[in-house]
Amino acid sequence: MRIVVIPGDGIGPEIVAATQRVLAAADRRFGLGLAFERQEAGFAALERAGSTFPRAVLERCRAADGVVLGPVSHARYPPRAEGGLNPSGELRIGLDLYANVRPSRTRAGIPHWSRTPMDLVIVRENTEGFYADRNMHAGPGEFMPTPDVALAVRKVTARGSRRVARVALALAAKRRRRLTIVHKRNVLRLSDAFFVAEVEAVAREFPGVAIDDQLVDSMAALLVRDPARFDVVVTTNMFGDILSDEAAELAGGLGLGASINAGDDHCMAQAQHGSAPDIAGRDVANPASLVLSAAMLLDWLATRHGRPELDRAARAIEGATEALLADAATRTRDLGGTLGTAAFAQALAERISRDSASPTWRPAGSPRPAPRAAPSKARRAPASARRRCGTRSRRSTPGARPSRSRSRCRGSPRRRRSSLRARRGDAMPPASAAPSRPASARWRRCS
Ligand code: NAD
Ligand code: IPM
Ligand code: MN
Repeated sequence: MRIVVIPGDGIGPEIVAATQRVLAAADRRFGLGLAFERQEAGFAALERAGSTFPRAVLERCRAADGVVLGPVSHARYPPRAEGGLNPSGELRIGLDLYANVRPSRTRAGIPHWSRTPMDLVIVRENTEGFYADRNMHAGPGEFMPTPDVALAVRKVTARGSRRVARVALALAAKRRRRLTIVHKRNVLRLSDAFFVAEVEAVAREFPGVAIDDQLVDSMAALLVRDPARFDVVVTTNMFGDILSDEAAELAGGLGLGASINAGDDHCMAQAQHGSAPDIAGRDVANPASLVLSAAMLLDWLATRHGRPELDRAARAIEGATEALLADAATRTRDLGGTLGTAAFAQALAERISRDSASPTWRPAGSPRPAPRAAPSKARRAPASARRRCGTRSRRSTPGARPSRSRSRCRGSPRRRRSSLRARRGDAMPPASAAPSRPASARWRRCS
């Protein structure tokens, strides 16, 4: 199994090194036969090759079995004409990674911002939508017809909608058998009505999955108020981008937001969050987001190649992560612990090497915390109920924490700077490490 590993920018090199260490331990423990190939993207590649995403890197990724991509400081890149390509976008389009699968769940002992516990997966369309840098065959999807007018095009296709719907429905069928379609069709009466209709058409192939839908603005509120009601959520690209950051933070924090970008032939592990320049180079970043993303990649590879040892390795990584997170003494600082990035990875690697294939966390099939609004049995909702979710009020749960203000250093301004060093922004003055907490594991399995 050839895995291309791309360190990226900001905290990328630290969390990618940590992830590779954990994968290497899983490789030794389960005999996976992993071979790592390091490639450069981001500022390192810009310096060396004049592009943040050289064409050759895409070809190496295409030839590999899987990719682990560290976060990139895309907002600070120069314009495309000067070599500033977004590696995320290039890989998602270049490898046709049309489904971005982003689980978020609360965990025992780790405080969460949401009023209820949650265990949901956002499946985000990943190749079209409002992403002007990648949604056109030629040229960008935004333009200025006159100096005082700026337009952006949002692209929704039947094929794009149907294939992401299929991924979401197949996932829902293995979990709590409920799918929520998130949209804004009260305003986007053509494009989002179209997206919803295409997803509903595919849903007819999955009669065991109950379907409902939700407007994106009220969805943002319900994620805070009552996320327990959601199982799998499918939505267009930018809604999914925004809601998944919200869900990860509500569940505990961005530092454990894992994801894969999956297509029919390729898969890429990538944390949900960005390059966190405010904490880069200080060994304080939580690597669990990318470690858990890598576990999702192993899970995807296990299914694709029919190799159960890859699935065992994925479960062992999830289990070891769960075990470390359960103990405040073995958490990273963003979670109130004391471990640095490297020490957390070392502890994970040791645990994976030591543990048996059955991790110490909940075995498959045992009850998990409280998705209270989840249906206990698969049932397709009646047509009337499928129009929208009902609204129920919910009291605050003991695990929920009150909001608090947080300071955050956003890094240097976005305006162009002449020197590369200024663009990197990796040597930012230290900001107080923002609190953030975890979010994934067992994303594919039902409770
Ligand atoms: P961010 O996700 O990098 O950071 C948001 C906050 O979360 C910061 O306070 C950061 O310190 C914290 N955080 C993020 N990951 C963490 C971790 N693993 N452990 C502990 N704390 C963590 O968002 P941003 O500041 O808006 O973006 C920074 C850069 O990342 C931008 O250039 C943006 O374009 C880019 N970006 C890249 C990706 C990607 O590569 N997948 C995703 C989002 C943003
Ligand atoms: C993500 C990021 C990217 C996106 C940016 C860096 C273009 O926010 O992967 O979530 O919007 O897709
Ligand atoms: Mn994002």
